[in-house]
Amino acid sequence: MARSQKVTSMNNLYDNDKSLAELPEKGVTRREFLKKTAVGAGAVAATIIVGGCSSQKAGSISADQDTGAISARLDWGLASKSALKTVALAPAGVTYVRLIVSGAGISPALQKDFPATAGTGTIDGVPAGTGRTLTAQGLDASGAVTYQGTAANITVQAGQTTNTGTITMAASSNSVQLGSFSGNIVLGSPTKSSMKVNIFSPDQGGIVYLAYSTTTGFYDKQTSKVALVAGSPLEIMIDGLAADTHYFYRLYYEAPVGAGSGPTVEYAFHTARPAGSTFTFCIQGDSHPERVNNQFNSDLYARTLQTAAADKPDFYMTIGDDFSVDQLNPATITAAQVIERYTIQRPFLGIIGNCAPVFLENGNHEQAARYLLDGTPNNVAVWAQNARNSLYSQPAPDGFYSGNTEQINYIGLLRNYFAWTWGDALFVVIDPYWESSVCVDNPFNGGSKRSNLWDVTHGDAQYQWLKTSLEQSTAKFKFVFAHHVMGTGRGGIELATLYEWGGQNSNGTSGFSANRPNWSAPIHQLMAANKVTIFFQGHDHIWARQQIDGVTYQTLSEPADPFYTLYNNDAYLSGDKLPNTGYTRVTVSPSSVKVDYVRTYLPADEGQGKVSGSVAFSYSLSSSV
Ligand SMILES: [Fe+2]
Ligand SMILES: [Fe+2]
Repeated sequence: MARSQKVTSMNNLYDNDKSLAELPEKGVTRREFLKKTAVGAGAVAATIIVGGCSSQKAGSISADQDTGAISARLDWGLASKSALKTVALAPAGVTYVRLIVSGAGISPALQKDFPATAGTGTIDGVPAGTGRTLTAQGLDASGAVTYQGTAANITVQAGQTTNTGTITMAASSNSVQLGSFSGNIVLGSPTKSSMKVNIFSPDQGGIVYLAYSTTTGFYDKQTSKVALVAGSPLEIMIDGLAADTHYFYRLYYEAPVGAGSGPTVEYAFHTARPAGSTFTFCIQGDSHPERVNNQFNSDLYARTLQTAAADKPDFYMTIGDDFSVDQLNPATITAAQVIERYTIQRPFLGIIGNCAPVFLENGNHEQAARYLLDGTPNNVAVWAQNARNSLYSQPAPDGFYSGNTEQINYIGLLRNYFAWTWGDALFVVIDPYWESSVCVDNPFNGGSKRSNLWDVTHGDAQYQWLKTSLEQSTAKFKFVFAHHVMGTGRGGIELATLYEWGGQNSNGTSGFSANRPNWSAPIHQLMAANKVTIFFQGHDHIWARQQIDGVTYQTLSEPADPFYTLYNNDAYLSGDKLPNTGYTRVTVSPSSVKVDYVRTYLPADEGQGKVSGSVAFSYSLSSSV
């Protein structure tokens, strides 16, 4: 980064600057002050004072706590010599200086910005106490932090000004030489205090670690160094994070031969939001990467994911049919072939997954389903679920997530259904494929399809968990996600009355009490009674919005269909229906939920009314809780 010296005369430094009257050096001449505070020829940049008058109260500090002041000087590391008659301010490119005071009992941290040309600045009301930290940052015109320095363990006494001496300002490491890591990162299972970082490269091994912090370009924490094996996913847990906080990170890659070592570009993520927050999440329908030149175009899929990533969602969700194994030959299928179905998605989901944790929903084409278990480790269901959980860090029940606690031989926890709260919304992902003993939809091994749809079930355990999750949540908004109503069939609310979803037999008579004696209500009625805001599903390859009994049924478009088809139009007898292709963006605020259908097009297919990234349909819902 080019550093040039900005010179301001002594008079400019002092003129119109009332805060200097509060400096400990009050009374000294201007020349004497500069002599006293200089840290070496050319090193003085700006003098700052942080603090206020004795007994001044700070807004978030207890009312009876006295306050003091901190003074410091910033050394920007400028190399050129500077006469004492002039003062070097921040380097060119630094537009303003941000001072942050943090420490026990200071919540949120005290923060104030000053024009870089001012040379001085004051933050009022630093509470007296020990262990205060003063962070000074230089920011460019875009707001990016390009310099930073810190003074720690500062003791502030009421009515006193603590001089911390010189803070050395370091240039951002955003200008570092990047390494050659060409794999990808998919984040997963975010909580208030942790993030799982799933790293995968098909052909690069080496040593990796993550460097991270809350400030772009400055990484004051890092994980342990661990070995990355080519072709094997590596999950690194970052914990000890602060809730509702934006973190920046890089993956540092040490190549076996040295050449190519270095960091990736910087990525970012946000830890779990509390109630009262506004945030965005995005969700895609069936991507079907196995349907090349039919419903799948890789350039269009990448463009959809890039467009969604630009929304900076807190997380990204899929709705199933993203890892279809059922085109593989049942007679010759291998674990490696199943794993490959999961690795081919990594470069795509890595486009958004390096900044937005990815949640998976199970689909009928995944064949991650109980009916395929055979008591051995060598079957499609075991291979699929293990590939799923190793390459995509899905949630297991813990203090943040609830979910499936059943242990399956050769797999362990399935991580197939789970729930969490983020901001003012409850998120519930459900799955019939692992809970039904029969094949829910299309049989992989040529076996017969189930004949009785009452045999398709989410199971007693999942039902009771779903009921508890919905009933106990106090969230203003509740979202339920499944690949499809009952995991099979076509349509949205058209199916909401049937079988365990709605309680009726296909002829309209009630079959619920006879077939689900342990359930208090069918799933749809349970959702309606608990004021579920939106039920999201995929499977039908159409974007459709419907509503029944106060519950919105939102069917999702495909993200990569180059023919922009309106599939299964006949199955949807009502509602707002739009064709492929695109993704759905949901913005949740304390007062409402806004849903946007964002269309995406290949560049060659754009034109009037066909602008990639434009919103084709939008609606808002208020809380009914
Ligand atoms: Fe599908
Ligand atoms: Fe499907």
